[in-house]
Order: sequence, then C-alpha cells, then structure tokens
Amino acid sequence: MIGIFDSGSGGLTVLCALKKAMPTQDFIYLGDHSNAPYGHKSNEDIVRLTLQGIDMLMAHGCKLVILACNTSAAIALRHAQQNWLENTYPGNRILGVLVPMVEAVSGVPWHIDEPSDNSHKDTRTLALFATRKTVESTAYSDELAKRSPNIKLLAKACPGLVDAIEGGAGYAPLNGLVEGFVQEVIAELDGKLPDAVILGCTHFPVVEKLFQAALGENVPIYSQPTIVTESLHDYLKHHPEFTSESTGTVTLLTTSGESAHLLHGGLGEFQSI
Ligand code: DGL
Repeated sequence: MIGIFDSGSGGLTVLCALKKAMPTQDFIYLGDHSNAPYGHKSNEDIVRLTLQGIDMLMAHGCKLVILACNTSAAIALRHAQQNWLENTYPGNRILGVLVPMVEAVSGVPWHIDEPSDNSHKDTRTLALFATRKTVESTAYSDELAKRSPNIKLLAKACPGLVDAIEGGAGYAPLNGLVEGFVQEVIAELDGKLPDAVILGCTHFPVVEKLFQAALGENVPIYSQPTIVTESLHDYLKHHPEFTSESTGTVTLLTTSGESAHLLHGGLGEFQSI
C-alpha cells in the first residue's frame, strides 16, 4: 500500500497521474484539510502536521509514503527521514516531490548531487511558482544549484492561490491571481519571459492551463504529476517490496469531511478520520 499525503486536495493531481500509470497499485490518500493551507504556517507546525499525517498513513499499513506537498517536503522531509522514521516505522520509506522535479529540470539523477560538465552549460532563467514557505526554505534553489549551478532561478511566492483552489474558486479569481504572479515575474525579468517554469506546488497543476495562457505557449512548464509518476515508477522497479499489486483500490481520507472537495472526478469520496 502506497500512501500519498498533502495539506489538502492538491496531492490529488499527483494521485490521478499515479493511478493512471499504475492501475493495479493500491493507494491511500490523506488530505489534511482541517489544517490547510500549510504555506504560511511556522516550520514547527508544518513538521508536526506532516509527521502526524505520515503516521496516520503508516498506521493504515502504508510502508511507503509520498509527500505530495512541496511545503511539507521542503520543510519536514529531511527531519522525518533522518530523525523520526527509523525509530517509529523502521524499514518504511518517505519520498518527496521536490527532488524528482529538480532531477527533471536539471537532467541530473537524484543520487548525483553535483554538477556534470554538461549541466554547467545550462544557463536558463527559470521561474518557480510555489507557496511562501517553499520559496523561503530555498530548497529548490539549493538543490538546483548543486546540480546546475548556472541556472538562474526566480522564485515567486503565490499567496492566496492554494486557498482559492481549496475553496473551489471560479475561473475569474483564479485567472486574476495567476496572471498577477506571472506579470510580477515578467516585470522582475525586465519584461522578458522565463525560459521555463516550475510549478512547485501540487495544487498548481489544477490551474496549469491558466499559467500556460499567461506565459504564452512557448514557455515550457515543469509540472509534478507526470514527473513524480515517472520517478516513482523507476523507484518501484528497484524497490518492488513497496508495491502492492492487487485490484487498484484508492482510499481517500481527510482530517475534515466538511471542507474536502474533489478536484478531479472519478476517485471516490473522502472519508473523515
Ligand atoms: N500542495 C501543497 C504544496 O505542494 C500546498 C501547500 C499549502 O497547503 O499551502 O506545497
């Protein structure tokens, strides 16, 4: 059983892609809707809530948990892996969504965290759109700098966007927010477009088309559902002990039945825990 954790419904974008690629794999999804969004919380709160979420999923039998939340991955993953997991669930694993993204952007595999001759030649200017906490953590710029030190990364916090998506906002307010953030990036680049964009929040694939429209069709967008799916597929090839092929059950859990709504149809209903 593979567990997927997010502060709310954003991780469903990753779960949908995983489910499509691995139809017989069983998944449990947990959205911490009663505490979402995480993007402006203190580091202490993000660590505590993330560990609580992982604990719930592992208590439900998940031996592998994916933090499908960049904010949790940026702030809590290292602590969870290094200080908590071995004492609490020895033998289990926790993976994030940030490193697969950095690997895809830099073209440097996860186990190599130093630049190759080729990656030195990458001088693109990239824009990262993420939550305030993910931006402040500098996790993306740090990880990218290790692998592709000549990439210039402009990190843009997007306050209010996760809240609007969680709240089921319509086209006009979502488009207004996205256009505003994109225009701020273009202004900071003296009117130029970035060479490519990283959507560093699992809620943002929901509004990927709005980002693409605001950026124009020639700016490539790195988006996590496909990237994380490819990465997990590869990981499971080397770690088949974490697969549980059966009928492909998907269980959706939430810490708050009231606020949980589905961003994508067809997965079932959330159950409160
Ligand atoms: N989906 C989460 C992420 O990837 C959103 C965090 C939040 O709740 O603000 O960062």
